[in-house]
Amino acid sequence: MLTLDAVWKSPPNHPGSPILQDCSYTFEAGLIYAILGTSGTGKTTLLRMLNNLVDVDRGRILLNGTDINTLHPSQVRRRISMQFQTPAFTGITVEDNLAFARRYSQRDQVDFQGLLQRVHLDPACLHRPVASLSVGQQQRVCLARTLVTQPDVLLLDEPTAALDEDTAERIMELVREVSAAEELLTIFVTHSKAQARKLGNVLLELRDGKLQGIA
Ligand SMILES: Nc1ncnc2c1ncn2[C@@H]1O[C@H](COP(=O)(O)OP(=O)(O)OP(=O)(O)O)[C@@H](O)[C@H]1O
Ligand SMILES: [Mg+2]
Repeated sequence: MLTLDAVWKSPPNHPGSPILQDCSYTFEAGLIYAILGTSGTGKTTLLRMLNNLVDVDRGRILLNGTDINTLHPSQVRRRISMQFQTPAFTGITVEDNLAFARRYSQRDQVDFQGLLQRVHLDPACLHRPVASLSVGQQQRVCLARTLVTQPDVLLLDEPTAALDEDTAERIMELVREVSAAEELLTIFVTHSKAQARKLGNVLLELRDGKLQGIA
């Protein structure tokens, strides 16, 4: 469970145009939330706040009732995983990248090849340079990387924006499969209402400083 408790946030250079204004909302475990909103309304900023990558101006964010500011940063990284809009890598090979995420986990051994199989990638990819993979395959590696720490919460910022429709569809199916298997709380930002309706258990729009439910 992840809770926004009376959160206020303005962009650093625009104090007069708040992204969130006294926003309270609780995301429940085991559900997939889709967040829509026009460009520049603050969806990426919201995800970054939920992961404590940027600070709130006022209010609190609670993970299962605990203020994330009181948790050690590595705890937050471990329990709340984020996938960015464009694949971002921290090493040369697939294995380097998965090993990078393992730093935040409390596990010495992680079955990387098993993880690749979970995201429907050939385990032999483990030793390939990520630069040699297609963007769709890279997004699968990113998804596998978010799972290394066995998180409670998965934040996805337009994970399929760079992909063609069919590949996007397959990645979102995968997100659904993984979310269900791991009983994750999943929050994904998308520009596609169709995708939101298809995959989201709950549809929300970020508008006028609040998260508003849409039918
Ligand atoms: N580090 C920053 N410094 C200054 N302004 C910022 C910063 N980060 C975000 N902003 C501003 O905050 C507002 C919200 O940005 P954000 O990236 O969260 O929007 P978004 O809803 O994700 O947009 P998009 O759909 O285009 O990805 C924008 O006006 C943006 O310019
Ligand atoms: Mg964004």
